[in-house]
Amino acid sequence: MPQKIFLEHTGKADLTQIEHYLKFGGYSSVAKALNTLTPEEVVAEVKKSGLRGRGGAGFSTGMKWSFLDKKSGNPAYLVCNADESEPGTFKDRYLMEFNPHMLLEGMIVSAYALAANTAYIYIRGEYWYLIDILEKAIAQAHAKGFLGKNILGKPYSLEIYVHPGAGAYICGEETALLESLEGKRGNPRIKPPFPAVYGLYGCPTVVNNVETLAAVPWIINNGSAAYATIGIGASTGTKLISACGNVKKRGVYEIELGLPVEEFIFSDEYCGGMANGKKLKACVPGGSSVPVLPAHLLLKTEKGEPRLLTYESLADGGFKTGSMLGSGGFIVYDHEQCMVRNTWNFTRFYRHESCGQCSPCREGTGWMEKILYKIETGKGNMADIDLLWDIQRRIEGNTICPLGDAAAWPVASAIRHFRHEFEWHVTNPAEATKPGAVYNGNLLSVV
Ligand SMILES: Cc1cc2nc3c(=O)[nH]c(=O)nc-3n(C[C@H](O)[C@H](O)[C@H](O)COP(=O)(O)O)c2cc1C
Ligand code: SF4
Repeated sequence: MPQKIFLEHTGKADLTQIEHYLKFGGYSSVAKALNTLTPEEVVAEVKKSGLRGRGGAGFSTGMKWSFLDKKSGNPAYLVCNADESEPGTFKDRYLMEFNPHMLLEGMIVSAYALAANTAYIYIRGEYWYLIDILEKAIAQAHAKGFLGKNILGKPYSLEIYVHPGAGAYICGEETALLESLEGKRGNPRIKPPFPAVYGLYGCPTVVNNVETLAAVPWIINNGSAAYATIGIGASTGTKLISACGNVKKRGVYEIELGLPVEEFIFSDEYCGGMANGKKLKACVPGGSSVPVLPAHLLLKTEKGEPRLLTYESLADGGFKTGSMLGSGGFIVYDHEQCMVRNTWNFTRFYRHESCGQCSPCREGTGWMEKILYKIETGKGNMADIDLLWDIQRRIEGNTICPLGDAAAWPVASAIRHFRHEFEWHVTNPAEATKPGAVYNGNLLSVV
């Protein structure tokens, strides 16, 4: 049986109730850390486990913690990023709804490791029902002595506060999040300085994703070596993948990193294959910000090796023939889906969510949206496709935060792999704009 860390006990009992969570060994890592490990030893364990940030970038969690400025004399903060607004990504929501204490337990141990006495959960405003769940869980943890002054009688104290955002995707970017948490408009900051040195209120801060923090109790309880044996190579542990689109069974799955993409899509244990007998055309494997892959490059790398759900395998081939694991938002398209329409839809989102600080992102996303709309509605010309390519190229790498890249990559990858579909819209406008029009010329890529 594949190892389960987050979802092992979900469904067996109502884990929002601390008594049930405690029956399954909940909060034991808090006692273990506070009684037997120094903060430095907790950091070392997490570093050795190979845990990488599950918010998208996949940076080593232990390494990030070790960068925290300990000499500034200012208080340190831990901030949990629960903004989760990336189209296609809905795994943190699931974890907080069904296992909120696992997040709190992970935050307590992580905050102890960072010597932080105040922690925040910055949560997407639309997740109002989760705010209620989390606040009740915090009250229960307080009542049992896992939060507050002198936790479990030890000289360590922590308070956790839930802070709702106002529904802006950009507030998931860690520095925009910190600005918003300080009560300002959520504009990303120029880095460096990084939050580990200049974070919340100018103090040393670690920002981590919900899933990252929720993995910490298992690592402390079972040891870094045990965690490092799950997964493949530098992709250790398990990962939550939210699967949506044209598969039979959409939902949130916990996989061991290293699972072949083909098995994830077609086996009954996971997505159960394509819905309605249709064929696999493409997939965005890591949330809307990562490059789309056509079916033949999704199941196998350019070298003919099986594509695996790992940071390395999904990136194999760079952006020419690869993509990214990202946040694990797995969007699957069948052969009847229009790649031009999909790209236009994503670009509309990025245009709407751009904070407007940098010209390439502010102007470029709006420009790309207009051109894509033109092509999609049969009013485009061939030069528009080259113009789109040129605009995305000028956005990538030229902005304050990665939202610019996130807006450029879907456009670049759609043109790279599905250019013939853009051209077909230009040369067959009458057919392309008919309701339910299907372009089937890309048979090479359909599986
Ligand atoms: C536009 C944008 C939106 C983001 N949204 C989220 C988010 O909702 N949740 C998240 O954990 N990370 C998000 N990130 C990544 C964060 O900036 C940051 O890297 C992450 O929270 C770090 O946590 P980790 O190291 O545990 O992955 C976003 C980044 C960008 C550029
Ligand atoms: S890249 Fe876009 S979202 Fe990010 S700071 Fe610049 S304008 Fe704002």
